[in-house]
Amino acid sequence: MARYLIGMTGASGAIHGVDFVKRCPGEKFLVMSDWARQVLLTEHGLKSSDLEPHVKKVFRDDDLAAPFSSGSNRYDAFVIVPCSVSTLGKIAAGISDTLITRAAAVALKERMRLVLCVRETPLSSIALENCLKLSREGVVIMPLSPPWYGNPKDLDQLVGGFTDKLLALLGEAGAGSAWREGELE
Ligand SMILES: Cc1cc2nc3c(=O)[nH]c(=O)nc-3n(C[C@H](O)[C@H](O)[C@H](O)COP(=O)(O)O)c2cc1C
Repeated sequence: MARYLIGMTGASGAIHGVDFVKRCPGEKFLVMSDWARQVLLTEHGLKSSDLEPHVKKVFRDDDLAAPFSSGSNRYDAFVIVPCSVSTLGKIAAGISDTLITRAAAVALKERMRLVLCVRETPLSSIALENCLKLSREGVVIMPLSPPWYGNPKDLDQLVGGFTDKLLALLGEAGAGSAWREGELE
């Protein structure tokens, strides 16, 4: 069974984190920044406790003694969805003063898979440079840009289309979008 660390930060688009937390299979651990909790409440009226049933454990972002602060605790991928440009900048600068940024620093040094679903628009040159810097380190920069080619009929389908792509990226079987499956027939 695959093991995933999931981070949610205070960028808009908390619904993408919620959908991923719900649909991603395997053993899942969740870390939410303070602003992720705030945005989740603002955008959806949800609390972190609403996500608890979908994961093995939720960690506080100030819990730097949590297992994922150490490279001894391995996983298949660390996915940050949504990822703010603040967290992006800290990771690119090597700052690790929260569990999310520390775990990302560990993922980089241990060469574990790191996926950042960056959400901001427009993007400054600084954010773009940070994306490029991390991409060259092997990090997957996956902007929160849901696909429209599946002709989504509602918000759930639009959000689901992005989650499909994320799951396919992680190699989770059967997670490909209808568009991709149709292409192979
Ligand atoms: C309602 C709301 C929406 C926000 N949307 C974004 C966003 O889309 N992208 C972003 O980078 N920051 C956004 N921010 C700002 C971040 O929350 C802020 O920079 C915060 O310090 C990020 O901290 P974190 O990365 O530790 O969660 C938003 C803040 C609020 C209150």
